[in-house]
Amino acid sequence: MMFQNLRRWARGYNRKRRYSPIGVAFHWLVAGLVIFQLWWGWRIGRMPVGPDKLDAYGAHGAVGLVILVLMLLRTVWRTMMAPGPINDADKPGWQSTVAHITHYAFYIALILLPLSGWAMMSATAVEQPLKLGGIVPWPPLPFQELSMQTRWGVELWAERVHFTFVAILVLAIPAHVGAALWHHFHHRHDVLEGMLPGITELEEDVKQALSHRPPRRRSRRASTAG
Ligand code: HEM
Ligand code: HEM
Repeated sequence: MMFQNLRRWARGYNRKRRYSPIGVAFHWLVAGLVIFQLWWGWRIGRMPVGPDKLDAYGAHGAVGLVILVLMLLRTVWRTMMAPGPINDADKPGWQSTVAHITHYAFYIALILLPLSGWAMMSATAVEQPLKLGGIVPWPPLPFQELSMQTRWGVELWAERVHFTFVAILVLAIPAHVGAALWHHFHHRHDVLEGMLPGITELEEDVKQALSHRPPRRRSRRASTAG
């Protein structure tokens, strides 16, 4: 019952050509953490070997694992509760195709990056305990039984995967941001608005839920407006 209500609430936003507040929160939280990770990962590479560098790896792992958990929850939310809205930018053609490929690539990258990072740390740095968000202990993958040579093989492959997806992100993020701004400022499409937090709308929804009043017919107006 609660599940259905939540779904109805989220789909209400989709009908208004918006992502739900939960989808919006996932997007901006993950986007912020990813920018941090790219900068931090690059910074670690330039640090001299020593305790500071180990701490920096610890923080990188802690944040990366938070991204992993958020992305898994986000995938469940996206597939079971609320798909993305259809908006002005959704027209048949190569641009929509490229946008969808980019979105898939982000989901895949942001799941495989933490997994490969986890594999690297488990293969060759088990003595450094991992913690989700720096708080919740996170076990290493069970590589300890493997020979040292196999472990270095895992490390090498995981590092290649990590690096490949870093490169994909570094290329895809500017393209994605550029496209969002282009649609907003050049075409004046509503695609960016659909991903921005609509604070006043959310407040209204919460007030309505608390006062048990029947919902206002906002969706009908929205669907004739565009
Ligand atoms: C979405 C999450 C993540 C992003 C965006 C990210 C990004 C990066 C970047 C930019 C680098 C430096 C470039 C490179 O050497 O490939 C790096 C290196 C590294 N990351 Fe991540 N990372 C993520 C998650 C993780 C996690 C969860 C772990 C560990 C549990 C991890 C472990 C490592 C390690 C060990 C390196 C050093 C690789 C090496 O040069 O040997 N990363 N990461
Ligand atoms: C690290 C940075 C970012 C990542 C990893 C990222 C990732 C994503 C993903 C995975 C989606 C698809 C969501 C879904 O349908 O489930 C998405 C959608 C979107 N993002 Fe980002 N994003 C980032 C930064 C940004 C920025 C800075 C902007 C704005 C300037 C932006 C604007 C949008 C918009 C407007 C959509 C909706 C697209 C549509 O409805 O077709 N994103 N983003």
